[in-house]
Amino acid sequence: MISIALDGPSGAGKSTVAKAIAKELGYIYVDTGAMYRTIALFTLQNGADPTDEAAVSALLPSLVLEVKYIDGAQRMFLCGEDVSDKIRTNEISMCASKVSALPAVRAFLLDLQRDMAKKNNVIMDGRDIGTVILPNATVKFFMNASDEAKAKRRHEELLAKGENITLEEVKKTMAERDKSDSTRKIAPAVPAPDAIMLDNSESLEKTLETAINIIKEKIQ
Ligand code: DC
Repeated sequence: MISIALDGPSGAGKSTVAKAIAKELGYIYVDTGAMYRTIALFTLQNGADPTDEAAVSALLPSLVLEVKYIDGAQRMFLCGEDVSDKIRTNEISMCASKVSALPAVRAFLLDLQRDMAKKNNVIMDGRDIGTVILPNATVKFFMNASDEAKAKRRHEELLAKGENITLEEVKKTMAERDKSDSTRKIAPAVPAPDAIMLDNSESLEKTLETAINIIKEKIQ
């Protein structure tokens, strides 16, 4: 099986690039952030503190998380309900960052993610795919972009979803989240030593072309 790891901070444009690569090469796009977001939603729904490992761990046995592909798109199901749209708020982003720092939560998702890569050719986006989940991935990318480009991109996404938030607020919460994601003790969002760095500050088409050329060269 071929597996492409695509890690990087929030707003770097990973999902857009990953979806386009998946389409071009016929792979499955796996968005691992959506899994942490679903756990965050469950945590909030149950009134638990997302930084309290014992409280969140106690919830995990009753959490039924399913990843389904509907018309080629990944959808997240929480206890039978499609929550794919509900998990895209700024509140859930911050809560996902908190629960993702808990070892019990990471352990809960590890097999699910590895299993998907065992059964399918995948491009998997996240923070620790190249370092922890798929250390033998066929190609590893670490994508970044300027702070301005990242905040602008995420702000536009949130506005399009009807959230009332300023660019400054987005910048602030993104900086907080990225700091905590990249400095946490477990599976920090850092490039694997063998990751290829991709700068997505400018043209998406150029980033995509570079990535696809690298993958094609590797799998030929
Ligand atoms: O990619 P995203 O913004 O949807 O991810 C939401 C949060 O989940 C992010 O703040 C960090 C965490 N995450 C993680 O720790 N490991 C992953 N593989 C994917 C996401």
